[in-house]
Amino acid sequence: MKIVFYGAGNMASAIFIGMIENKVVEPSDIYLTSKSNQDKIMFFKENLGVNVSYDDAELMKDTDYVILASKPQSFPEVAARIRPYLEENTKVVSVMAGTQIKTIRRELKKDNPIARIMPNTNAQVRHSVNGITYSKNFDDRDELVKLMESFGETVQIEEDEMHNITAATGSGSAFLYYIYEKYAEGLMELGFNEEQAMFLTRNLVIGVGKMVEESDLPFSELRTNITSKKGTTEAGLNALDGEGVKQILVATLNAAANRSEELSQDDKVK
Ligand SMILES: NC(=O)c1ccc[n+]([C@@H]2O[C@H](COP(=O)([O-])OP(=O)(O)OC[C@H]3O[C@@H](n4cnc5c(N)ncnc54)[C@H](OP(=O)(O)O)[C@@H]3O)[C@@H](O)[C@H]2O)c1
Repeated sequence: MKIVFYGAGNMASAIFIGMIENKVVEPSDIYLTSKSNQDKIMFFKENLGVNVSYDDAELMKDTDYVILASKPQSFPEVAARIRPYLEENTKVVSVMAGTQIKTIRRELKKDNPIARIMPNTNAQVRHSVNGITYSKNFDDRDELVKLMESFGETVQIEEDEMHNITAATGSGSAFLYYIYEKYAEGLMELGFNEEQAMFLTRNLVIGVGKMVEESDLPFSELRTNITSKKGTTEAGLNALDGEGVKQILVATLNAAANRSEELSQDDKVK
């Protein structure tokens, strides 16, 4: 198998490290290229044993998958590198937020199978939630799903649902980090020092994550199981509910989904 990454930043590295650590590919199957940051990709070559090249003809020869992992605004440059050498059997997989299949096709000027995936950086700990959508001519989807399952769970969606997945899971980790951050700040208001607040919050989050992992119960039941009538938890939850947490989260998710839609409409690639 030959998988070529155009871009070796946060997202790409989370993906290829997940694939290598889970042994769904050999390091020698992976080829990296970047724009200019040679130090970074040489680090991966030296530490993981992957291949590194800036020769697009060599990179695109007999390639099974080319992964588009630059920022969307760099895509025209990336497409210009790939276009002359893209072979018809190579599958194109984009992780770029907001760049539509039709835009990728128009820029590459080829009919190759194209998939868009929306992973998140939890891929680093093999817990990404990956939305995936395909062009109609993308056969043999199972192989790509298997590759992606090496760094998380995968849900197949329609392309117009990408905006919601981008909000829910692409941006979602940042929303949860923000809540944990504010929780730790709340503990400091209560009188804990910063180190204590971080320690308590971090371990609370880890414990809750493990409970969620190990239990099939809905969140509401996990919550009610530890909420006794007229107890401390109920008092806190009443205060939380009064702040309209759900409305705040709905507004947060809508803002992110709308921004994803705006970015795809702003898509100036011709
Ligand atoms: N980060 C996330 O949580 C997340 C989640 C879902 C999707 N995504 C998507 O993942 C993509 C990458 O995000 P990121 O956070 O990984 O960005 P990043 O860390 O900034 O990495 C971007 C990479 O693209 C490379 N690049 C730029 N121009 C190039 C060119 N002409 N040819 C080859 N490589 C080129 C850069 O190389 P240099 O270092 O040499 O400039 C760098 O390795 C984005 O499209 C984003 O929408 C990110």
